[in-house]
Amino acid sequence: MNLKEARIEVEKLTNELNKHNHLYYVENNPSISDYDFDMLLKRLQDLEQQFPELASANSPTKRVGGDITKKFETVVHKYPMLSLSNTYSEEEIEEWVTRVKKQVEDDLEYVCELKYDGVAIGIQYVNGELKQAVTRGDGSQGENVTNNVKTIRTIPLSLKGDFPEDFEIRGEIFFPLKNFQKLNEQKREAEEQEFANPRNTASGTLKMQDSKVVAKRGLDCFLYGVYGTGNLREGHYETVQKVADWGFKIPPNSKRYIEKTNSVEGVMDFIHYWDKERANLPFEIDGIVIKVNKYHKQEELGYTAKSPRWAIAYKFKAERVETVLEQVTYQVGRTGAITPVANLKAVQLGGTTVQRASLYNADQIEKLDLYENDSVFVEKGGEIIPKIVGVNLDKRAKDAKKIKFIEHCPECKTELVREEGEAHHYCPNSKACPTQIKGRIEHFISRKAMDIDGIGAETVDALVEANLISNYSDLYTLTFDQVVNLERMADKSANNLLEGVRKSKEQAFPKVLFGLGIRFVGETVAKKLAKSLKNINALQKADFEQLIAVDEIGDRIAESIIAFFAEESNLEIVEKLKSLGLKFEVEEKENSSDKLDGKSFVVSGVFTAFSRNELKELIETNGGKNVGSISKKTDYVLAGDKMGPSKLQKATDLGITILSEDEFIALLNG
Ligand code: IVH
Repeated sequence: MNLKEARIEVEKLTNELNKHNHLYYVENNPSISDYDFDMLLKRLQDLEQQFPELASANSPTKRVGGDITKKFETVVHKYPMLSLSNTYSEEEIEEWVTRVKKQVEDDLEYVCELKYDGVAIGIQYVNGELKQAVTRGDGSQGENVTNNVKTIRTIPLSLKGDFPEDFEIRGEIFFPLKNFQKLNEQKREAEEQEFANPRNTASGTLKMQDSKVVAKRGLDCFLYGVYGTGNLREGHYETVQKVADWGFKIPPNSKRYIEKTNSVEGVMDFIHYWDKERANLPFEIDGIVIKVNKYHKQEELGYTAKSPRWAIAYKFKAERVETVLEQVTYQVGRTGAITPVANLKAVQLGGTTVQRASLYNADQIEKLDLYENDSVFVEKGGEIIPKIVGVNLDKRAKDAKKIKFIEHCPECKTELVREEGEAHHYCPNSKACPTQIKGRIEHFISRKAMDIDGIGAETVDALVEANLISNYSDLYTLTFDQVVNLERMADKSANNLLEGVRKSKEQAFPKVLFGLGIRFVGETVAKKLAKSLKNINALQKADFEQLIAVDEIGDRIAESIIAFFAEESNLEIVEKLKSLGLKFEVEEKENSSDKLDGKSFVVSGVFTAFSRNELKELIETNGGKNVGSISKKTDYVLAGDKMGPSKLQKATDLGITILSEDEFIALLNG
């Protein structure tokens, strides 16, 4: 292929990818499968590698990140980024309305918007191309975070339609709660410090040097202001609606109120509605913004030094309650990590009863400066478990004692250790501490690991306490008589247990590896290790250099793996599991590939060359997965004869690629 041909194809791919990105992320209405999208992206990546001169600053390949920002340069805002005057009182909102009405006698319209709790951003577009994205900073100058902003899928890189030549759009970058919770789950799994709240994390993420990491975190953005377009429309509300035509994702919850139809009540209703309903939003808001809609009225009202007179923010009182800290208890994890938990006097918060709050570690207790029986403030912040955010010092008793972190394991009384640079205290008695023993076995049987049906935490307790097992390999040598003699164990459940254990021998190597419970080796890491090293012997023999050469494996994980295999007892357990027939190598099935890696299939109907089960097996051996029913997440429907018309219709409606048996085979061979 020559440069000229490549240029044509790059242009075509860019347009297509931009279109599908918009359909997927902005309109929630994808028209091709993830797989097809990835293939188009991959093709563009390949071409850009082959012809680097064709890789543009706004290529859709920028979405996955890769650009590094060593230093965020300072940029002066063309239009100062003002703040909003705000209030917690409804009365003051009414007073503001009265003031506005005095000045703006007729033609008054308000717009009510949600006040997104994130980081303000100003994005400049020149000739329809994203040129620069700058944080608010001090309002007159901010930081250039363009590389990172380009990874946010809902922000268009190139515009469509009749956009002005040079303008700026402003909005708020935020962390969707689902993605924030996922990130913290990963932190927990890696035994790292969790992030405190979505807003600060969004702000921190935006200032990371490696845009690849930013891309993975899944930030999002809502837009709330357009600058430098001239009076494109008469008012703010109409302008924001209009920019959707250029490819922007605009906030779905804004409302316009026209004065003659009793707008103050409208505004108040909006406030009341969202004060309740915000608990159900997939992102955090901290209030409502009320703006005068028409631009000529905004100009009439003007600005103070800091904020426009034509807008005001009503801030919700944080969902915060005060209650008594009754006791701090300590949990021991399977790796020996100690987590302090605040036991609180039961209190209502955001519609649920709260009795416990996470305290994370000793530093957190120190930071809060907690004393026994303190009266504490509790908030919910993006996390499911609430947290203590402060202490009411007025209520502290004079003779109150400071909370002292325990020095011995609450379960086995061994002295705790805290290594330098580690956030957690640990119980070093990993071999004999009963909670750690049980924790490791529970981890081993959990769904993401060996997925053993028929055993729950209580059964594990009973088995350990009866001295029938002391590590997970012992599960495989249990006998019916041993199990059935446990309390509350009938014949049937004993058989189920043994059957579940027996069946678990079929689990693939990555699951076994995850199940071993090596510190910092979470599900994803286990998969990466298995894929790269193929079997346990190679993993066992791998040195530090080999380990960190594996994708996403860092120093800490490598050291932990080496430490695990340096332990004689771990080697014995692994050997025993091997001899029992568990899978310690990846299965390279005949004809296997990763052609369908990560793709989900629904197989339905009657086929000619293969049976339905054979097709399902083919999907799995080539890296795909089978799912039961069609949803937005399905990539392909493999349709045979006599597939139900409603299924077919659903697949068509969702824009899922429908394959015939022949097309599927062609896909595998092609
Ligand atoms: S308008 C001149 N609208 O709140 C006024 N701001 O406290 C420009 N914010 O810096 C801002 N949601 O970061 C506006 N719907 C919304 C908003 C919003 C959140 C943030 C924004 C601003 C801060 C002011």
